[in-house]
Parts: sequence; C-alpha cells; structure tokens
Amino acid sequence: MTPHNHARPGDYAEAVLLPGDPLRAKWIAETFLADPRQVNAVRNCLGYTGTWQGKPVSVQATGMGQPSLAIYVHELINVYGLKTLIRVGTCGGLNARVKVRDLVLAQGASTDSGIVKDGFGHFAFAPLADFGLLSDAAARAQRQGLTAHVGNMLSSDIFYHREPGLAGYGLLPAHGILGVEMEAAALYTLAARFGVRALAICTMTDCLITGEEIDAEARQSSLRDMVALALDVAVAAA
Ligand code: HPA
Repeated sequence: MTPHNHARPGDYAEAVLLPGDPLRAKWIAETFLADPRQVNAVRNCLGYTGTWQGKPVSVQATGMGQPSLAIYVHELINVYGLKTLIRVGTCGGLNARVKVRDLVLAQGASTDSGIVKDGFGHFAFAPLADFGLLSDAAARAQRQGLTAHVGNMLSSDIFYHREPGLAGYGLLPAHGILGVEMEAAALYTLAARFGVRALAICTMTDCLITGEEIDAEARQSSLRDMVALALDVAVAAA
C-alpha cells in the first residue's frame, strides 16, 4: 500500500496496460478481461487485474502527464514488482505519413520534460522502448493489418503550446518525430532505471498538420484494436 495505491502485494499481474484515463482503465477491464477485479481506486485512478486468453494481466490508469505517470509507474515497479508495462494512449500527429487512426509504436520518446532530465547532468538520455515488446507489437500489427508506424515520439509536458499547429514543435517534425503525447519518455526512463520492459502504443487521434480529428465511432474501434494488440503483447512477454 502506498499513498496513491491501496492494492496489496500480489494484487497486480506482472504485466500491465497503462491508459491515462481512469474510465478507459475501467472500460478495458470490463470489455476485455475475464474476471476483472478492481485493485485500486485511490483518487479514482482505477486499477484492475483479470485475465486475457487465460493469462493474468492488469490495467492501471496513470492520469495525464509525466509527473502523474511517474508516481504510478515507480510504485508498480518498486512496490508491486511489475516487469512489463505497456502504455495505451492517444497522440497528436506531427508527420504527414501518420494518418488519423494509425498506430504509433514509440521506439524512442523525445521530451521537453524536466522529470526525464533529472539526474543526467549535461547528458541527454535517449528513452527507448524495450526492443522485444516493440518488435512483437510491430509484427502483430502487421499480421492483423493494422497500420503502425515505428519511430520517435514526443512526450511533452505541454498540451496547449503557445503557438498553434506545428509551430510549437520547433525542429522536431523535421527530425522525424511522428506524434506528440504526454507520458512515454518518463515511462521509458523509469523502465531503464529499474531494469523492466516498457512500450508505448498510441492511436493518432488529432493531426496537428491538417487539423483532422478522429470521430467518435472510429475512436472506439481504433482503441479496441490497440488494446487487443497491447494485451497480446503483454501476456506473450509475461
Ligand atoms: N498533444 C498532446 N497529447 C495528445 C495530443 C496532443 O495533441 N493528442 C492526443 N494526445
């Protein structure tokens, strides 16, 4: 038990899906998992454990942004002993090749966040996905006919940048950054620090180049595909 999590030791499986939104955690647990049981509700940051294809797996909301995610992830690893952590989220599009509904598998996560810089002095640490999880997700996405782009994500601390559209992202789009979300870099940094596996999978929901946004129906079906993929990868790794 921690100030943020009332689960007991053993309440979580070794592998967890990490959506930002607590209600998405509830939806994932109730829609996909067999025998889901709630293991955390502190601050309504909901966590569940159940099974997927007969194998134990958990889902825990992280809230929005890297400071919030870092609290939950630090404790999942160091208090509860989790070994495989897969973020499932949405991202804005920063590259014309990435279309609304496409998946972005974050091979790396660049960031403007101080939380990732902490402790590295003048070094710029490169937060990376676990290669095994990444290559498994890419192969499964291809087999399932899902369009998945593998590359560099931006994990920003800022949702509302001062300048509209791409202008707020400086040289990043010209350096191949595919999309922007708000959590992956902190997840990858903590996974590296504590020697566990992590991956972030995002559905691109709003293109910052064209202004196109996903509609409600497409959002639901795209999220279903992403969650099923993430669950397959999670239980295969555990
Ligand atoms: N910015 C940051 N995070 C996001 C966005 C965005 O435009 N879209 C979905 N998550």
